[in-house]
Amino acid sequence: MPEELIKDKSHIERIPLYIEGLDDQMEGGIPAGQITLVCGTAGTMKSSLSFNVLYNEVLNGKTALYITLEQSAVSLLNHMTNMGFDSSKVNILLIKNLSDIEQKLSMAKGKGTLVLADIAVIRKEIKSADTRIGPTGDWINVLKNIVRKMKEHGQLDLFTLDSLSALYVISKFDNPRTELFYYYEFLRDLDITTFLISEMPLDKSRYGEYGVEDFLADGVIRLELVERQRKTNREITVIKMRKTAVNNDVFTLEWAGRKFKALYGGQPALI
Ligand SMILES: Nc1ncnc2c1ncn2[C@@H]1O[C@H](COP(=O)(O)OP(=O)(O)OP(=O)(O)O)[C@@H](O)[C@H]1O
Ligand SMILES: [Mg+2]
Repeated sequence: MPEELIKDKSHIERIPLYIEGLDDQMEGGIPAGQITLVCGTAGTMKSSLSFNVLYNEVLNGKTALYITLEQSAVSLLNHMTNMGFDSSKVNILLIKNLSDIEQKLSMAKGKGTLVLADIAVIRKEIKSADTRIGPTGDWINVLKNIVRKMKEHGQLDLFTLDSLSALYVISKFDNPRTELFYYYEFLRDLDITTFLISEMPLDKSRYGEYGVEDFLADGVIRLELVERQRKTNREITVIKMRKTAVNNDVFTLEWAGRKFKALYGGQPALI
């Protein structure tokens, strides 16, 4: 469904980032249906931050899809359990075959549902696919098919692709700007709140590999590990967020008491 004209800003539905101290600095969160690039170097909690949003929305009864091309779905889930997420509060569907997805979705009732699929699932799908998917593997098409399948089943509100960078490793883009543009448009048309995780190069010169990911996205969140006086801090900055008055200051990011907190925005963290 293409984006409709809104009459009043209160009509914009927002999805919180579930970061205490930051959501109130961005009108309550991300406009629903937008695409946000979550970028950062290794270990900056890109996966945890996106997972945290999906988990909390699923707690509210929503359905979310997390595709991990980077680490296995089980490894991701174990990391989240270690961080204190309680998987018994939501339906967790670990998808092994795409053909199961509708049946599993119909069985998941009563609570919100988090569907987890990893690269092994996508590989299987590429192998079993017909000529629509060429010998090099049209990975984007497989990713689209999963999303479409869930949407047609009437269940998909949020989606994370972890990560765009891993997608680039396994799938060659002849014309990244065009192909990414159409992929973003596809997600926007389906009205899915999307997080695309992007590994930032160490020199932090770009937000994504092709240097276009940030222009095409509606929002960009940058995560960093910053060394100061032999101490390393986690930092978060909302670089851009369409349809949102956002505080673009750098905030310290902490995971404490099973939630993210943003502190000292615009002020030095160490006195
Ligand atoms: N229980 C915990 N509490 C706080 N932080 C934790 C906990 N467990 C792990 N971490 C931190 O989370 C970091 C990894 O988080 P995450 O996997 O979300 O990062 P990432 O940016 O996705 O990493 P990658 O680049 O490997 O994909 C680890 O480096 C670790 O320091
Ligand atoms: Mg990760």
